Amino acid sequence: MASSLCSRVNQGCSSSPSSSYLSKPSSPLLVVVRRQVSFGQRRRTKGLLASSPVNAAFILNPPPYELDELEPHISKRTLEFHWGKHHRAYVDNLNKQIENTDYERNTLEEIVTITYNNGNPLPPFNNAAQAWNHEFLWESMAPGGGKKPSGEVLELIERDFGSFEDFVCTFKEAATTQFGSGWVWLVVKDSKLAVEKTPNALNPLIWGHFPLLTIDVWEHAYYLDYQNRRPDYITTFINELISWERVLERLERIKAFTNVREPTIPNVREPTIPNVREPTIPNV
Ligand SMILES: [Fe+2]
Repeated sequence: MASSLCSRVNQGCSSSPSSSYLSKPSSPLLVVVRRQVSFGQRRRTKGLLASSPVNAAFILNPPPYELDELEPHISKRTLEFHWGKHHRAYVDNLNKQIENTDYERNTLEEIVTITYNNGNPLPPFNNAAQAWNHEFLWESMAPGGGKKPSGEVLELIERDFGSFEDFVCTFKEAATTQFGSGWVWLVVKDSKLAVEKTPNALNPLIWGHFPLLTIDVWEHAYYLDYQNRRPDYITTFINELISWERVLERLERIKAFTNVREPTIPNVREPTIPNVREPTIPNV
């Protein structure tokens, strides 16, 4: 079994999302942050400007680098398809599905969690989640990325996985063993870092967890460059592409919504009651 490869398997890696399937997120919907709605652009209806107050469509944001800047690890051709075709289709299809519905007033994160519907997904869920997942993915990578994190990110990884090497092993194992299409995530969950894998379009937002990093293990993410060699793609992603700077930024943002350590509760001392002395009766 692949799990035997890891000297220490983090509990979050082996935990199944199924235990959380029925729970609704209890934490604020955070995380990604860049609001993707193009406000102020009202659609034309029958030749006239629509009169509804907000009639918004999600836009396809480009990756924060040129499409050829991840070469030779991920080719421009892969990103032309992956971002230019697949991601675009999720956004376009979502816009069609939510047009003239109340969802037009929701953020993308809200649509993901609302339409997950406690494990009974509503029609917009897959496109909404995939639109969110892919934007999060592009920002999880950077030209010249990979290597090893430092500072607080490394400290927390070592605290919760034992070592950076154990984290890598856990992450690789999860990404390699995710059957079929899906995603693998580094998340903050119950004040600890954990690795989770999700099938198809699911993501940690639906369980109220806080994503720091993701890798897309759908075949469309790597097949043009790696064919069936998913493990090579995963190794390259870790060694050459992860943007640990972005992970740190996300960690800092997440701290506003959840603890990554035991909360520091200030000591509350008993009030100091001044001594009440016997009255001094002057000698007469
Ligand atoms: Fe993808």
